[in-house]
Amino acid sequence: MIRLMQLEDFTQLQALWEPEDMRYSLEGFQDLLARNPQTCFVYQEGQRILGAACGTYDGRRAMLRSVAVLPEARGRGLGKQLVRAVLVAFQGQGLYAIRLHVMADNAAGIALYESLGFEAHLDVLYMGLNLPTPADSFCC
Ligand SMILES: CC(C)(COP(=O)(O)OP(=O)(O)OC[C@H]1O[C@@H](n2cnc3c(N)ncnc32)[C@H](O)[C@@H]1OP(=O)(O)O)[C@@H](O)C(=O)NCCC(=O)NCCS
Repeated sequence: MIRLMQLEDFTQLQALWEPEDMRYSLEGFQDLLARNPQTCFVYQEGQRILGAACGTYDGRRAMLRSVAVLPEARGRGLGKQLVRAVLVAFQGQGLYAIRLHVMADNAAGIALYESLGFEAHLDVLYMGLNLPTPADSFCC
């Protein structure tokens, strides 16, 4: 069943997210849920969380984030159900323009989002910068 994400889910979510390079500190996770209590969902079977998806809104953009399903539970439609739950919740909040980032070589992720009607915005360039850390400036 799908239900809203809760603070108590943190340990299981870490195990789900970390292998996918989605990392939250406990403080970051608490903040995520405090800001988005009605748009983050998990799929639970028995006591086990099999998947998760989160919608975040910062006052400007509604974003889909941290979508993941355990490897052994993939291909059963759970990812799609989870993303649908986020979309319905966003709609309920009057948020209609939903955005997300996905790696260009993530065929499963792209297939999931396309199956729900998402389209690539090819006019957008995703840019990044790694600022020097204190360790970088500590030189010999
Ligand atoms: C992406 C991910 C969440 C998909 O979850 P899932 O539960 O396996 O997906 P679903 O079973 O709900 O499939 C949804 C749709 O995507 C398609 N799809 C899923 N995996 C696919 C794959 N590997 N190749 C091609 N299509 C795929 C399905 O056929 C389905 O399409 P349909 O409804 O038109 O038949 C899962 O693969 C995952 O956790 N990947 C690692 C984390 C990740 O990449 N997250 C997205 C980051 S932006």
